[in-house]
Amino acid sequence: MTGDHYFTAEPTTAAQPREVEFSVAGRDFTLTSAGGVFSADRLDPGTAVLLRKAELPAPGAAGPLLDLGCGFGPITCVLATCAPDATVWAVDVNERARALTAANAARVGVADRVRVAAPDDVPADLTFAELWSNPPIRSGKAELHELLRRWLPRLAPDGVAWLVVARHLGGDSLHRWLVEQGWQVERHASQKGYRVLRVTR
Ligand SMILES: C[S@@+](CC[C@H](N)C(=O)[O-])C[C@H]1O[C@@H](n2cnc3c(N)ncnc32)[C@H](O)[C@@H]1O
Repeated sequence: MTGDHYFTAEPTTAAQPREVEFSVAGRDFTLTSAGGVFSADRLDPGTAVLLRKAELPAPGAAGPLLDLGCGFGPITCVLATCAPDATVWAVDVNERARALTAANAARVGVADRVRVAAPDDVPADLTFAELWSNPPIRSGKAELHELLRRWLPRLAPDGVAWLVVARHLGGDSLHRWLVEQGWQVERHASQKGYRVLRVTR
């Protein structure tokens, strides 16, 4: 037993690589996951709802797209596959998550358009056409709010953010907080206890 959380910067948990298989929009994905990252054994059910219910980027989407808190990279790999002209930035504090995302991007043949980065390594002047996130909730509401205060303003003027949050972990209070912060928020979908929020300026 270690003190690692999935958002630990440098996990000490044994890596024990494993395969995670899932399908999105008729495409099958087999990715590598490992101990010490979020939902290491399966596609997280919230992420699955997000990828099923949100509007995936159109094939012609120019990007850049942001996967905020990429974990082992399922959202990044789906976005980069759906939008073959777009660059996808995959950002995470957890270095093992970043390494897995880079390896998975190579595995699905999109590594040339995926930029894996620690938060502070994303160029400050870059804005995003789309921000996708199954955000870290368990690190606490204050940290979640700080994260969104940092990254949502980096949406392009007509950009859109897609967030998934479990209702029992505060999906509805997050919705209210985002509105209080001045964002346009639509509950785009609700499934299996998860809210999919569409956020725009
Ligand atoms: C709920 S998990 C989602 C992981 C992945 N997108 C998925 O769907 O499986 C949230 C991720 O956010 C990362 N994270 C936590 N704090 C962060 C921060 N301040 N900036 C970027 N990523 C962060 C965690 O390490 C974790 O990988």
